[in-house]
Amino acid sequence: MKQKQLTRKEIDLNDPEQYYLWRTTHDKASRLTDVRPQNDDVSCKTDVLHPYLDKIFEVSDKYLRRVFNEKLLHEFRTNCFRDIRGDRDSTIEQFVKAYYDFVKREYQKEYTGADSDLNQSIFSEPHAPKALWGNCLDFLRRMDSESVHLMVTSPPYYNARNYSQWKTLDDYLDEMSSIIKECYRVLDNHRPFVFNVGDIFDNDNIHTKSSWGKRRIPLGAYFTMIFEEHGFQFVDDFIWDKGEVQTQRHKNGNRPYPLYQYPINCYEHIFVFYKHRLDETLYPCPVCGCLKVNGNAYSGVGVKSWECKNLDCFERSAGNRGKRFSARTQLMTGLQRTENVVGEDLLQRWRRDVVKLAPVIKINSKGENVLGHTAPFPKEIPEYAVQVFTGVNESVLDPFAGAFTTTIESFRQGRNSIGIELNRTMFRDAVLTRFSNMLGMRPKEVEREWI
Ligand SMILES: C[S@@+](CC[C@H](N)C(=O)[O-])C[C@H]1O[C@@H](n2cnc3c(N)ncnc32)[C@H](O)[C@@H]1O
Repeated sequence: MKQKQLTRKEIDLNDPEQYYLWRTTHDKASRLTDVRPQNDDVSCKTDVLHPYLDKIFEVSDKYLRRVFNEKLLHEFRTNCFRDIRGDRDSTIEQFVKAYYDFVKREYQKEYTGADSDLNQSIFSEPHAPKALWGNCLDFLRRMDSESVHLMVTSPPYYNARNYSQWKTLDDYLDEMSSIIKECYRVLDNHRPFVFNVGDIFDNDNIHTKSSWGKRRIPLGAYFTMIFEEHGFQFVDDFIWDKGEVQTQRHKNGNRPYPLYQYPINCYEHIFVFYKHRLDETLYPCPVCGCLKVNGNAYSGVGVKSWECKNLDCFERSAGNRGKRFSARTQLMTGLQRTENVVGEDLLQRWRRDVVKLAPVIKINSKGENVLGHTAPFPKEIPEYAVQVFTGVNESVLDPFAGAFTTTIESFRQGRNSIGIELNRTMFRDAVLTRFSNMLGMRPKEVEREWI
């Protein structure tokens, strides 16, 4: 049957059917790609709509209707036919990406507390480090869901420093719990939170405020419970071996007798918690791009996997099984690019889960605090986390930025780096001094300037 010929003026660009019809009947180059070998690299560089996109929609129609209502499906199709160009392989790649992005945007809309201006400031200039002054809980509550690819931080250690104090240990843990809950929402799915904390020697201030109430408080254990309560999965606990430490936090007395002995504390935890929110949305086969998929076994707690049921898919196993994949494998495959290769030295250094790192020396020989901050962690922690858990241009957030070590390091590694700090003095010192010393520039101060 002869196709109806439409002029450019007549077609409705928002109607994917009309647009496709117009492209395929009027664009000579487009028709040419139909008869070329399908992997032709030349067409990849052209600005041509490939008919394979229509095939994807045809095969996927029933499945797309399970995911989207009529209105959303129309919007998604329109976007795809408007934006996707290139050869078959490139069409599949762009379609899969467009699908993931669209599903994520719809998921993000479910959260109504997001502030678009704030998100715009944080995510629009990926090549400027961002410094936010204020309570991280307030900022996190205004951030888009699943918008950050990695969190790296070290929280205040209860009442270990005089700049942040809580009445009781319970008050402190409750506040940390509210923050971690919000971090879970803001962290992207199948992504980690690298969390450095030390076990301390202090008073709970619950039973007594006298020095008899002092005890070793296993903050690491308490935080693990909090993280798991909010849905995170405990994955690793690197023991940071601090060697000979500056403080002698021990309790030996001077008596060489039984029951007096306690070791000097010279380690901290560097936890790796993962977010695996069980997302049962259908995802397209990464090989053929079609959504004709069936649920496969779960490949881990919170990770749903799929098997392609499209018999025309370009990859079938010897036993004629379709491609098996998950949103997580798709994410991991996408990060396998030359610019994300992790150096051998770094991998070697962090091969075992006991890592020797010298603590940051804050006090110089004259007894002055040279960092203007009392608890910075070594730059090796964010250096490792950023390279091992993110790709270039992805976003890294430190909700307790302190001296902005994470922000500076992730900026150096080409990531969109964001740090939040509550203490004005520390914020000012970092913005005025630390960034200039380390990067020769000032960060972008989002919303409030320290002045
Ligand atoms: C252990 S320090 C972080 C050290 C940091 N990793 C570094 O290398 O400098 C914890 C920081 O969290 C800050 N802080 C405490 N509560 C906060 C909150 N609710 N929002 C933002 N920052 C907070 C403290 O002022 C402190 O600077």
